[in-house]
Amino acid sequence: MSENNIFTSVESLNKTIQELKTKHKIGFVPTMGALHHGHISLVEKAFKYADVVVVSIFVNPTQFNKKSDLELYPRTIDEDLKLLAPYPNLIVFIPTVEDMYPATFENISVDLGDVATVMEGKFRPGHFDGVMNVVKRFFDIVEPDFAFFGEKDFQQLAVIQFMVKELGLPVEIIPCKIIREESGLASSSRNARLSEKDKETAVLISKSLLIAKELSCCFSPFQVKELIRDLYQLSSIDLEYFDIVDPATLKSLTKWIPGAHACVASFCNEVRLIDNLQLTDNRTK
Ligand code: PAF
Repeated sequence: MSENNIFTSVESLNKTIQELKTKHKIGFVPTMGALHHGHISLVEKAFKYADVVVVSIFVNPTQFNKKSDLELYPRTIDEDLKLLAPYPNLIVFIPTVEDMYPATFENISVDLGDVATVMEGKFRPGHFDGVMNVVKRFFDIVEPDFAFFGEKDFQQLAVIQFMVKELGLPVEIIPCKIIREESGLASSSRNARLSEKDKETAVLISKSLLIAKELSCCFSPFQVKELIRDLYQLSSIDLEYFDIVDPATLKSLTKWIPGAHACVASFCNEVRLIDNLQLTDNRTK
């Protein structure tokens, strides 16, 4: 990757963006690094919408509610740059914590309501405030026309969409499909912390979602959740939550609705993994 395409300072990136913006559409793919083919699929999608794509690599400390999780988050900057090298019109932005959060930085406050208090919000207090603020800061610096977010972080996507609407930000959010390993395990930077054996065990997470989808034909959401929880009891995976929610409000469902979504968070050998799947189609139920 040419050094000309790598920016570490907010000021110089923003200056370049101002020049580019006069002629080009800007796509933005925010990441915390440890890139894998899921991220690359976001980059490739971004090039379908924009002729210049900015990829940020920044492990954002304010969205981690456990110090150990932040410290153990994989950091593979050299490999990341190699993966991004084949894309000519791509800019990599690798800011420092000080640059992202200068003394003058002020947190935005948007009442995210229920979208941020259930599931991830319940188990990771403050997480979505951190995500929302860093993404808003990036939007101010990169000024993208389009920003790309993976559907694996289903609730994060809902939070960002809510924030963009609430603040009337001039950026279009493009959701991107979950990319999976051959085994079904959802691709994640955190998978780098799993041994081969852990990866085999973690396949239960995607399997449990598929089983829930099958069970949705004949059982209520409550019964499906009970059956799936029993399944986890028999494994070495520590289930944090398995919920079936309305995709619009993220509220737990007692009855099936079109597009009902199952979301799961669990620990495999202390590595926190999340996944989700739409259980019922968009018209029936
Ligand atoms: O999904 C992530 O990797 C992060 O939450 C994001 C959007 C890059 C913000 O730090």
